Amino acid sequence: MNKNEKFNHDLKMALDIARHAPSSHNCQPWCVNVTDSVPNIDSIKTTQNSRFVTVSFDESRMLTSLPSLTGEMYTSCGIFTELLTQALVFKGYQCEEHWIDNEGIILILHLLPTETVSNHAFEQLQATTLMRFTNRGPYEQTKVDTREYESLIENLNTKAIHSQLINNPTLISSIANLIEDYAGLDFSNKKVWQETYSFIRFNDNETAEDGFYMRNLFGPVSWAFKQAFKFISHPKNHMLSKIVGLPNYMAKGLAELVDSTPQLIVFTAKNKSNSSYWHLGKDLSKVWQKAQIQGLSFHPLSVLLQNETPRKKLKNILGNKEETLFIARLGTAQSPATRAPRRQVASILN
Ligand SMILES: Cc1cc2nc3c(=O)[nH]c(=O)nc-3n(C[C@H](O)[C@H](O)[C@H](O)COP(=O)(O)O)c2cc1C
Repeated sequence: MNKNEKFNHDLKMALDIARHAPSSHNCQPWCVNVTDSVPNIDSIKTTQNSRFVTVSFDESRMLTSLPSLTGEMYTSCGIFTELLTQALVFKGYQCEEHWIDNEGIILILHLLPTETVSNHAFEQLQATTLMRFTNRGPYEQTKVDTREYESLIENLNTKAIHSQLINNPTLISSIANLIEDYAGLDFSNKKVWQETYSFIRFNDNETAEDGFYMRNLFGPVSWAFKQAFKFISHPKNHMLSKIVGLPNYMAKGLAELVDSTPQLIVFTAKNKSNSSYWHLGKDLSKVWQKAQIQGLSFHPLSVLLQNETPRKKLKNILGNKEETLFIARLGTAQSPATRAPRRQVASILN
């Protein structure tokens, strides 16, 4: 294998890990290009062995039904990039990230081959990435203790992102009430629901590359439930779903789940800039993987942050000065989750 072939091979191996990154609606809004044309940035010190890779948005895959979803796109791509760079480091590359955030290009990775290859660490990363799932089912009542929590967040880049463990039952109940009042917004806003609905794969046997199967969202459900949900929740039947009270039913179900969760985890930053959401993704990638290793699951509750009113109310409940960028249920899941579909490497690498 010559140098170029080796680089392409290593990049594909690294992408094969990164492609399992979690993303909002599992939309996987990223794409990667190998490039020679590097912008004239002082901090980039090109050498003969330099290789450059851009991480960009795949605009056709981005969620756009609400302005607040842009932040989730940066977070998703931040998680993806963190996995990509970790994998490349273990494959023997020094990785420098150069933030671009212009014309869809989020950043440039400057890669330099080193002598330090760690196949064992690469395989471990591969295994933990494949082990990680979003678990939307009920969690055990076991509380995460201080030691476990500190170990979970030990790799946080504390300069940009801060985390908070919410285990006070009164606070959790207030947040559950907020869910009950506002989670219906996901279903009752036609544009938002149309976008979400387009990501639901109703046929379990359909090969998909993004979105979620019904089993990913609800666990094992009967054929009759699937058909009824598919029909009533169809955006064409928007009025019907309101008449039968689907938005309230879904919101109530999620609120009950939150209320019975022993703890929530919250991530905050000074502001809601693209860069903050991006840094959140980088940190979240490490925390979420660590959680999985510790036998803990995450279930994000982004609906609280997508609309201004619940976002402000949540900020008041938490008594935070900083902006909340992410909130999730955290705990030991009672049942395992199932794998959601993923894009292939060839679809990500241009
Ligand atoms: C920024 C972000 C926001 C998310 N928000 C939600 C959410 O509000 N509700 C939810 O059930 N899952 C949420 N998820 C989880 C994704 O739906 C999940 O990662 C994706 O479907 C892939 O499934 P997996 O995590 O099991 O691999 C979110 C994930 C990310 C990265």
